[in-house]
Amino acid sequence: MEDVMITVENLRKEFKILRRRPGFLGTLRSLLSPEYEVRTAVDGISFTIRRGELVGYIGPNGAGKSTTIKILTGIMVPTSGRVVVDGLVPYERRVENARRIGVVFGQRTQLWWDLPTIDSFELLRHIYRIPAGVYKQNLELFTDLLGLGEFLNTPVRQLSLGQRMRADLAAALLHNPRLVYLDEPTIGLDVVAKERIRRFIKEINRERGVTIILTTHDMQDIEKLCERMILIDHGRVVYDGPVEEVKRRFGQHRILVVDLEGAPEEVSVEGAEVIRRENGRVWLRFNRDEISAAQLIHRVGQRYNIVDLTLEEPEIEGIIARIYEEGV
Ligand SMILES: Nc1ncnc2c1ncn2[C@@H]1O[C@H](COP(=O)(O)OP(=O)(O)OP(=O)(O)O)[C@@H](O)[C@H]1O
Ligand SMILES: [Mg+2]
Repeated sequence: MEDVMITVENLRKEFKILRRRPGFLGTLRSLLSPEYEVRTAVDGISFTIRRGELVGYIGPNGAGKSTTIKILTGIMVPTSGRVVVDGLVPYERRVENARRIGVVFGQRTQLWWDLPTIDSFELLRHIYRIPAGVYKQNLELFTDLLGLGEFLNTPVRQLSLGQRMRADLAAALLHNPRLVYLDEPTIGLDVVAKERIRRFIKEINRERGVTIILTTHDMQDIEKLCERMILIDHGRVVYDGPVEEVKRRFGQHRILVVDLEGAPEEVSVEGAEVIRRENGRVWLRFNRDEISAAQLIHRVGQRYNIVDLTLEEPEIEGIIARIYEEGV
């Protein structure tokens, strides 16, 4: 199929790890007669990703996200299953695959620690044999979009985390990859820095049609950037579909936050559950299929004096926590 960028079929990855025995004698026995156990990191994952998609690949710690991405980038070989990326099997054609993709691992930089940022970019220009015109154009665009100008001559080790992440993003895209893997590109950043990176990701996806797989623990990233998400847990896909659908199916709950005059001792309202209290401020959770916000406000107003109120939309984070607990 022409418009398919990634095909993953029944992917499995097992790690053989040394079984540890407690204590000194245990360590000695482990050395003399090692016993191994098998840990299944990816347990039969399948999905297809079309060209130009921006997909959120999410799941709790240890779910198998990074392992999947390592296999897709070609740095890890699966135990079994079929993987085709842009027509190639990545771990069989590592070099060719690497030329076509961009990767950002938010947890560690791909740049040369001691070199000024611009020198890292120059090195990448040579490594990827980026034509002068393309390089110049991209550098200008990324400098503009990511505000790189202020630190291009600063060694990477002296950059702040936010600056380093912006430099890493630019570096991953200099050679015009058609596909980019972003593994936690906003980790540890403040709200403003996250927003800037999100805008950039959106821009390159929309304007350049770059296919993007985004791994993150920040649900705002998913809500703001992705239409589709693949949710994995224990190495299996538990949901693959529209982000909106998850919100619709699991997000019937709304929260009404009210400030009540005189901070009443006991607060209870029929049709809602008090989930938090801070003096006069009360958080009431209700199911919008059972009671409307207007009805609930009316009920609260009959019993208490409302000074102020806001309505909170369901956070996808909470929804996902529930999917993990209850299953889909
Ligand atoms: N090289 C390895 N050797 C042994 N076990 C590994 C190795 N890499 C990953 N694992 C195990 O495989 C499982 C999946 O790990 P993976 O890094 O893919 O999770 P993740 O979804 O990226 O988690 P996180 O959100 O914490 O980054 C974990 O149980 C992990 O301990
Ligand atoms: Mg990971």
